[in-house]
Amino acid sequence: QSIQWFPGHMARAKKQIEKSLKQVDAVAEIADARIPVSSRNPILEHIIQGKPRIILLNKRDMADPTATKQWVSFYQQKNIEAVDIDCKSGKGLGAFQPAVRKVLAPQIASWKQKGMTGRTIRVMVIGIPNVGKSSFINRLSHGSHAAVENRPGVTRSNQWFSIGKGFDLLDTPGVLWPKIEDKMVGEHLAFTGAVKDDILDLEDLASRLLELLCRLYPNAVRSRYKLGETDFSGMEGWQILQLVGKKRGMLVSGGEIDTERTSKMLLDEFRAGKIGRITLEQAGGVQ
Ligand code: G4P
Repeated sequence: QSIQWFPGHMARAKKQIEKSLKQVDAVAEIADARIPVSSRNPILEHIIQGKPRIILLNKRDMADPTATKQWVSFYQQKNIEAVDIDCKSGKGLGAFQPAVRKVLAPQIASWKQKGMTGRTIRVMVIGIPNVGKSSFINRLSHGSHAAVENRPGVTRSNQWFSIGKGFDLLDTPGVLWPKIEDKMVGEHLAFTGAVKDDILDLEDLASRLLELLCRLYPNAVRSRYKLGETDFSGMEGWQILQLVGKKRGMLVSGGEIDTERTSKMLLDEFRAGKIGRITLEQAGGVQ
């Protein structure tokens, strides 16, 4: 899908989320561990207000483990519960329910006092497209829908999933669009494949990605593309792209580098995690 930031989108998403919020005890916001800033939409913060929530840093298998640890402690310092997960393998998912129970501890204690010991915990799952929302819900629910419950105020339809006794997830209807007002956000979403490539010219995109990678993870680039001891300082992205294309023998007739093919290859390899476990945004300061 082509993703753009229209005021209409925001208004609709806001309305849908606000409606769903009334039906849940907490919010689980999924972000991409490689781009925790760009993959989160700031409107969510405003909408959920005081609702208990946790942040799930998904795709940790592709992110830099050190950076992920830093992100988790960054959120902890802000008193926000964060858990890093990998919905591809299921790793880290065991920490989800305990983390939710932790943020809901006061509520759970008050339910207990009122004798509501069997009270189901309901959590809304939200995130921008491609962040892994479906993978998360499928992994935890094994496809099982929550039982229909006759309770006023709780709309029960097939977007409820049971993930264990007394624990339901609500797949938020509607789409939380990313906020692509900022050039960096748009680029980071495009690098990771969260938005379609048509947002930017392919060669521009690959050049920008290479520039960033050479700044943050120069050794990973050198080793993947056999660039020896190349010093990238002062080099522009398109120049590095040429080097990579040359090494891979991606030439067009006449011996010129096929930068379009090189760009596609580079983006594919980055998105497949072949360049390494990489985080593009560091906690406490976006790169
Ligand atoms: P969404 O509902 O939020 O839109 O996302 P969805 O679950 O469809 O996931 C989007 C893509 O991200 C899928 O890849 C999915 O497999 C992948 N994904 C989700 N979680 C993880 C994770 O923790 N690690 C990794 N490496 N990938 C993850 P796809 O290419 O669209 O499909 P496919 O590869 O599953 O066929």
